[in-house]
Amino acid sequence: MRKCVIFDLDGTLTRSEEGIWNCVRYAAEKLGFPEPDAPTLRKFIGPPLGYSFREYMGMDDEMAQKAVEAYRERYNVTGLFENRVFPGIRRLLRTLKQEGWYIGIATGKPQRTSERVVAHFGLDKFVEKLCGPVADHRADKIDLIRGALPKGWDAATDDIWMVGDRKFDVEGAIGAGVKSIGVGYGYGSEEELRQAGCTHYCPTVQDVIDFLCPGATPPKGAFLSIEGLDGSGKGTQLRLLCDVIDRYGFELVQTREPGGCPISEKLREIILDKNNTDMDDVTEALLYAAARAQHVRQIIRPAIAAGQVVLCDRFVDSSVAYQGGGRQLGVQRVMDINAPAVDGTLPLATVYLDIDHETALRRRAAATELDRLELAGDSFHTRTEAGYRELIRHDPERFIVVDATKTPQEIGTEVAEKVLARLMEAE
Ligand code: TYD
Repeated sequence: MRKCVIFDLDGTLTRSEEGIWNCVRYAAEKLGFPEPDAPTLRKFIGPPLGYSFREYMGMDDEMAQKAVEAYRERYNVTGLFENRVFPGIRRLLRTLKQEGWYIGIATGKPQRTSERVVAHFGLDKFVEKLCGPVADHRADKIDLIRGALPKGWDAATDDIWMVGDRKFDVEGAIGAGVKSIGVGYGYGSEEELRQAGCTHYCPTVQDVIDFLCPGATPPKGAFLSIEGLDGSGKGTQLRLLCDVIDRYGFELVQTREPGGCPISEKLREIILDKNNTDMDDVTEALLYAAARAQHVRQIIRPAIAAGQVVLCDRFVDSSVAYQGGGRQLGVQRVMDINAPAVDGTLPLATVYLDIDHETALRRRAAATELDRLELAGDSFHTRTEAGYRELIRHDPERFIVVDATKTPQEIGTEVAEKVLARLMEAE
């Protein structure tokens, strides 16, 4: 039997309240209305805009029309991208594709806007057909669902599902003669969906995967790491990158080295304890490798196998740069020590925040308490920087080198663009 699934967009694949609320606020401010409070803003999700401006903000017809224009002015440029793909949606779409499903979208949001949103998040490659209202008239959900179906398919002989978060989706599916799945993670309640008569109810994205693709092997996830000298601004960039990865619907596992799991965190305490001044360099390198061996097996590999995206704050490159370069154990020796720990599990991409060690040191000067490693003196950092440079020369494909002297925002944008491109390429 041929298999087809049609998704609703807002509340099912993506959540758009951030953009909607920002645009409502913008329109209110532009027309001199007080800023709407949170309960008022929440009411704007779902109904037609003009209706909401009249009903919830007390505008007359003419003012509501102006508000809709102001809203669109911002929405069409920025608002539509202030959107998030629900976590796990990419894995759902990949699994469906892998299992031979035809994927369509039927949305109440204008066709052109929806296409831009879907393309922006790199979901267009999964979708055969997207059907939304063209021009300004509101289309019936039944027609939209029919429009997204593959030509010549028939609910009597083919397995066809509509997946949505509101009763309109379920009613549309019934009208179009196809089965429906109501999802509980969007804007509608279980009660609403069941009352509307959904064929099946799935509280989570995982439930949709299990229901439509039982027993399917999850598509492989990805492994990313971020590196840089102490003071390169890694903490800030890590936070920004985590938000971007999550926003795009990848399932993020954030972790760090040394550490990331209980055994490795215990080793971290020993390694970074500034009272351990007599720690031998070889001991240190082996402890880092031991912590890594546990981390790779207990956290990193299982997450990749489950389809998640692992973002690791430092990985084996830190050992090569710090122990190999900084502590002068030599690049090859540190690689040899780490071979059984890493055992072939290398990042798909490694962000390197490029800053010279002097600038990095000046940035760190504000920090009150420096740990043992950071107390090792300036020449240590000179050699560590050289270690990183050598690694990048050897593996330019894997490294994403970013100028870390720019503003955090500029760096964040560049990192996000490049990392997302790699992640989507690997999908
Ligand atoms: P951390 O608190 O993570 O510092 P940062 O915020 O700069 O990453 O401490 C990690 C320290 O450990 C850092 O100085 C780099 C060092 N390190 C190594 O020397 N070798 C390694 O293999 C790893 C993972 C870290």
